[in-house]
Amino acid sequence: MSALSIRRLSDALGAEVEDIDIAQDLSGETVVALRQALADHCVLLFRGQSLTPAQHIAFTKRFGPLQELTLASYLHQEHPEIFVVSNKPVDGKPSDTRRTGRRWHTDMCYTPQPCRGSLLYALEVPPVGGDTVFANMQRAYDGLSDGLRAAIDGLSTVHDLSKVEDFKNRDPAATAKIVADNPPVEHPLVWTHPDSGRKALFLSDQIAYRITGMTEAESRPILDYLLVQAIRIENTYRHQWRAGDLVFWDNRSVMHCAPEDYDMSDPANVRHMHRTTLAGPPMV
Ligand code: OGA
Ligand code: MN
Repeated sequence: MSALSIRRLSDALGAEVEDIDIAQDLSGETVVALRQALADHCVLLFRGQSLTPAQHIAFTKRFGPLQELTLASYLHQEHPEIFVVSNKPVDGKPSDTRRTGRRWHTDMCYTPQPCRGSLLYALEVPPVGGDTVFANMQRAYDGLSDGLRAAIDGLSTVHDLSKVEDFKNRDPAATAKIVADNPPVEHPLVWTHPDSGRKALFLSDQIAYRITGMTEAESRPILDYLLVQAIRIENTYRHQWRAGDLVFWDNRSVMHCAPEDYDMSDPANVRHMHRTTLAGPPMV
């Protein structure tokens, strides 16, 4: 198997893959090794990359089919496979993606088949801040008591996008459409990774708002407890971006969050990124 140069980023998760140019056509062996590294470390960082949208898409496709994206207003004009996460104004109005991912979440958890992973590539970053934080949901699950693990194994939660409080700050027509297109769905609260066989908590703050068969009031303390355990500092990796970084996260083993840790009203603080997204398969 192709040997990668790997440098771990924190005790909990994350690894930098060094000395690799992902714009190149990588060998099948290298892709197998990267897939294994992702299962092992949950988040992979590739620094100093120079990717066209087509190269970013081609690299993503080496790991499986792309998720079809539906949020038309946020997609790259020539490459609709790319979701643009940016605070640059669009047609003179603030971008609707400038506050993407402010809460702890799992990507596309509000759809019937949450995506396998996401690959976020930084084109422009603020001089300070604009970080992304990742939490290892397998380690979070493993850290619970036997009793609590047994109690939550087999439960499912209802994911409802309309519960996102920040939507009130966004374009009402766009958010109404997103909510209408994504009715509530159920997912397991604990899911099993198809590559590693490890179990992980599957949460999203606000969206996974209720355990099936329980009221919201009954569910809240349980889900809040699990969330607090998952985001304990020692269970996280905080990524400080440089332009040219591509971060590839395994959506089945991590949750992530973009704290608003910079001043978006300062025009010097441009944050402009491209994200590709890997489709399912469903988890058990
Ligand atoms: C995302 C996301 C957070 C960030 O693109 O899925 O949550 O730091 N982004 O931009
Ligand atoms: Mn996200």
